[in-house]
Amino acid sequence: MSVPADLLGVHRIDGPSDMEELGRTLGRALEPGDVVVLTGPLGAGKTTLTRGIGEGLGIRGPVQSPTFVIARTHPSLVGGTPLVHVDAYRLGAAVELDDLDIDVAGSAVIVEWGRGVAEYLADTWWEIEIDREVGGRGVDNACGEIAPHTLDLDADAPRTVTISRRP
Ligand SMILES: Nc1ncnc2c1ncn2[C@@H]1O[C@H](COP(=O)(O)OP(=O)(O)O)[C@@H](O)[C@H]1O
Ligand SMILES: [Mg+2]
Repeated sequence: MSVPADLLGVHRIDGPSDMEELGRTLGRALEPGDVVVLTGPLGAGKTTLTRGIGEGLGIRGPVQSPTFVIARTHPSLVGGTPLVHVDAYRLGAAVELDDLDIDVAGSAVIVEWGRGVAEYLADTWWEIEIDREVGGRGVDNACGEIAPHTLDLDADAPRTVTISRRP
């Protein structure tokens, strides 16, 4: 249990710098073999959180949205744990994940869009779910009350971050 118990539960994150700070705290706690699954809609802040995690681990950056690269390994600059940053969005099957040959035991693995994927990597993992706050700006809903052109995904707005131990 490398992520301290007091980080489990719901966090209200007011802006990107708070998101990076939460990431740094997590990154300082992560150890080889840890798997973290990030879920949340596009623009939720998954990559922003991962950037902070990378800083906390002391890895070589830059951490970028890995959409065009399925998995990127960032070596540690301080003789510590490397970060493997995976974008599972386009992974069709667990078989493909297998093909990536990720060194789970020797790395901290962060999987964006990883729900349903983590169980192929580890027996236990952390799930971090990021939501734009209900009632806040940039919340889309099934009723279509917010016209798409009014959505500014990059505008600072609170996020709700829920950290849980799985399964
Ligand atoms: N509270 C917040 N936490 C994180 N990012 C936020 C927040 N408010 C606004 N943002 C903005 O939302 C965007 C999140 O982008 P990114 O981290 O790439 O999302 P994702 O990887 O989930 O698609 C950034 O432009 C960031 O500045
Ligand atoms: Mg991203």
